[in-house]
Order: sequence, then structure tokens, then C-alpha cells
Amino acid sequence: MKLKGRVAIITGASSGVGYSAARLFAREGATVVAAARRRDRLEHLVSEIAAEGHQGFSIPTDVTDSSQVQHLAEKTLSLLGQIDILINCVGGMMKISAIETFSDAEWRRVIDTNLSGAFYMARAVVPAMKRQNSGTIINLGSRVGKMGVANIGPLCAAQFALAGLSQSMAQELRPHNIFVTTVYAGLINADIHPLNPAEAFRRQLITTDDVAQSLLWVCTLPPSLRVDELPIMPRQVDF
Ligand SMILES: NC(=O)c1ccc[n+]([C@@H]2O[C@H](COP(=O)([O-])OP(=O)(O)OC[C@H]3O[C@@H](n4cnc5c(N)ncnc54)[C@H](OP(=O)(O)O)[C@@H]3O)[C@@H](O)[C@H]2O)c1
Repeated sequence: MKLKGRVAIITGASSGVGYSAARLFAREGATVVAAARRRDRLEHLVSEIAAEGHQGFSIPTDVTDSSQVQHLAEKTLSLLGQIDILINCVGGMMKISAIETFSDAEWRRVIDTNLSGAFYMARAVVPAMKRQNSGTIINLGSRVGKMGVANIGPLCAAQFALAGLSQSMAQELRPHNIFVTTVYAGLINADIHPLNPAEAFRRQLITTDDVAQSLLWVCTLPPSLRVDELPIMPRQVDF
């Protein structure tokens, strides 16, 4: 078991990559604290983890609300006494449309979901990680945080900013033995609303289990190695 004794908070754990990561990390011995908004999905996840003989907790959280995020970190510390790993797996594009069609509310929602949540989460867990003098933070980002793509302007803006936030934190936190990685993913066979591609195309995409494996790899690096950025792409698809 590669993560025995470690406590991992995973956001976006009710579906997609976060769900797969929660299952994998629990199997590898981590105590998983699963966060997202859908309580029923989180409780189902935790019951599946328990059925395999592992330990998980569900703490329903809207990561765009900084007070709920603070509560998530405090509850984790009161239950488990430590936070070793934070995996930020919350995101979404909301819609694909010309820039002038995005309302103020849609802009704010994309920025809050893809960027502010990761900032609130880091701010909430870093004090504990500094006290422990150790920690791993992974922000699951997107290829569109490296390259602008038409008709998803707010998402590109949020993802570029997430990359900048991650780079800044990586430099700042390294002296505290806290390592920050951005995983830049191409298309994943998850919800990907509103793309909704055909099944044959979906089968060519990265699986959520593949992404979970890459997250595990980053959390189990040898002590001499750090990975600031990890781009991952489907073998035969260029987006
Ligand atoms: N799918 C792709 O092609 C792709 C490509 C590159 C990067 N990514 C990134 O991968 C990550 C995971 O996405 P996914 O593909 O696995 O899609 P997904 O299945 O839709 O997962 C998104 C997760 O985020 C949670 N979430 C959304 N808003 C939230 C909020 N305000 N507070 C708390 N949780 C919230 C959702 O749960 P609730 O609704 O229960 O809150 C869900 O668990 C995202 O960061 C996304 O940007 C995805």
C-alpha cells in the first residue's frame, strides 16, 4: 500500500476523476476525505470504500464558498489530525459559446468553480501542511490552461490562472517541504458537458482511472524528485 497512514482530501469526489482517485487512494491505504456538493454520491462512495475494508469520510462542500472550505479543513483536522494530500478535482466549462454571450454570472461561476475553489482549498490546508513540514497539492488542470481555445474564453482564463497560482505556490511552499503539481489533462471520458461526444470517440479519451493513476504517481515520487507540471493526453486525440 503506497499511501498507508496518509490523509488525502479529494474535491470533486462525487464523480469523474475525483471519484476514481478516491477509490484508488483508499485502496492504496490513504484515509480519504471526499468532498463535493452531492451528499448522496459522496455517501455512496464512502460506503464502497468501507466495503473494500478501507477508510473514507464524506464532507459535503461547495468549494466556491470559502467558509465551507474552511469547515472542510477544520473537520478533517479534528477527525484525523493531519492533512497530507490535497487533490483539487473540481471544474467544468458550463457552456461553449461566443465570448459576447457569457453573462456576468456565467463568467463568475466558471472562475469560481475552476479557480477560486482551488485557491480557497490551498489557503485552508497549507497552515496544517506547514506545521507538519510536508504536503502534496495537485491541481487537476486542463490543456486549455496552456493553449487558448475558441468559444470557451472564461474556462481558458480560469485554467491559465490556475496554472499561475500553482507555479507561484510551488515556488513558495517548496521550502516547507510542500510540493505543488498541476496535471494538465486533455479530454477525459467523464461528464464533459456540454460536449457530449459519441461513444466511439469517448473510447479514445483518457479514462478517469488513468488520471487517478497519474495523481497517485505524483503523490508517491521518490524523495529526490519533484514534478511541477504533468501534461497527460489521450494517445490518438490532440485535445
Ligand atoms: N473531462 C475532461 O475532459 C477534462 C479535461 C481536462 C481537465 N478536466 C478537469 O478534471 C476535473 C474533474 O472533472 P471531471 O472530468 O471528472 O468531471 P465531473 O465528473 O463533472 O467532475 C466534476 C466534479 O466537481 C464537483 N463540483 C463541481 N462544482 C463544485 C463545487 N462548486 N463545489 C464542489 N464540488 C464541485 C462535482 O460534484 P458535485 O456536482 O457533487 O458538486 C464533480 O464531482 C476538473 O477539474 C476538470 O476541469 C477535465
